[in-house]
Amino acid sequence: MRSVEAILRNQSPNGAIVASPDFSQYHFCWLRDGSFSAYALDVAGEHEASARYHEWVRAAVHRISAVIDEAIARHYAGHDVGALEMPPARFTLEGSVIVDGWPNFQIDGYGTWLWSLGRHLRSAPSAEFTKDLRDAVARVGRYLEAFALTPCYDVWEESGSAVHTSTLASVYGGLVSAAGLLDDTRYLETAAAVKATVAKSGSRLGYFNKSSENDDVDASTLWLDNPFHVVDSSDSNLTRSVSMISDRLTLDGGLRRYPTDTYFGSGAWPVLTASLGWHYASAGNAGEARRCLDWVAERFDADGHLGEQFGGDRRDLRHYSEWLDRWGPPAADLTWSHAMYVILADAIARGTGGPESGLAKTRTGTSDTGPEVST
Ligand code: BGC
Repeated sequence: MRSVEAILRNQSPNGAIVASPDFSQYHFCWLRDGSFSAYALDVAGEHEASARYHEWVRAAVHRISAVIDEAIARHYAGHDVGALEMPPARFTLEGSVIVDGWPNFQIDGYGTWLWSLGRHLRSAPSAEFTKDLRDAVARVGRYLEAFALTPCYDVWEESGSAVHTSTLASVYGGLVSAAGLLDDTRYLETAAAVKATVAKSGSRLGYFNKSSENDDVDASTLWLDNPFHVVDSSDSNLTRSVSMISDRLTLDGGLRRYPTDTYFGSGAWPVLTASLGWHYASAGNAGEARRCLDWVAERFDADGHLGEQFGGDRRDLRHYSEWLDRWGPPAADLTWSHAMYVILADAIARGTGGPESGLAKTRTGTSDTGPEVST
């Protein structure tokens, strides 16, 4: 409940959700963080707040509709589109775009938004799929169709020249959601191509790699299972990836992002430890799911704040200090961390108490997976 309150507290009246109120670089609303947070609001029964977020995204997308349409047109005409001219990953809380050299070309957030909106519309009793919202879904769907397999920055806002597995997962989830919302199977064709790309590298290696340029693991590939359902929780390449992720990325019982990460010394992230728990909850391993939830629970401070990452200072003081000098201490209260804690608590409650016993009892009759996509 404190985490739900934290998300609500970090939401502006207009619906924007700030990534972190205490860390200067995070005073923006990212589609990625915000869309996971809106899903957490829905599972907690806070549908009105989630609706406000989705309306805020709709308006922000509407404001940049010319940018999106132009990027799509140039792409199909065979022209390069510079990363700085692409739709952004983050907006000001007012919903405007800041061109400040931030690596903004990250398509995953658009996929995550479509997925989260789909979940909202299916779970909120009074949710309305208005014509304006439908237009925004179609535009973002066309954007994802065009750029699904194009290299772009990843979910950690790095490595802009690669195609990233967790980005593909978000794009897949978004396209499947768009197909369901618009009742239009055209989006499933690209979703199938995305799924085939992921499956190909999975079968080449026997696990899922970080990206087209890096065969090591990345904890964000856990989202291939929940929430984007590119593969099944029991898929053998996924379970192998889970073991490798746990072996290579565990720090003090939580999960780091990827092996060579140096951001704030690369501590363990509640977002990722909760993602691991979410996988275990669907895979039927209630004990490990609970262990992940408890690990996150132990990271709250006395005031109920939950930070971005823990232990980087002890793991790699040199890099921790470099970031400290540049930006001050890491986010002490990250909205997305709270969101993932709520989501995992809900997944555990549903997994152990039957399909109608999640955090909010309003989610009956919703399916987690959406339409089937064959490759
Ligand atoms: C993370 C992103 C996140 C952003 C805001 C960055 O450090 O790599 O995944 O969206 O912070 O929380």
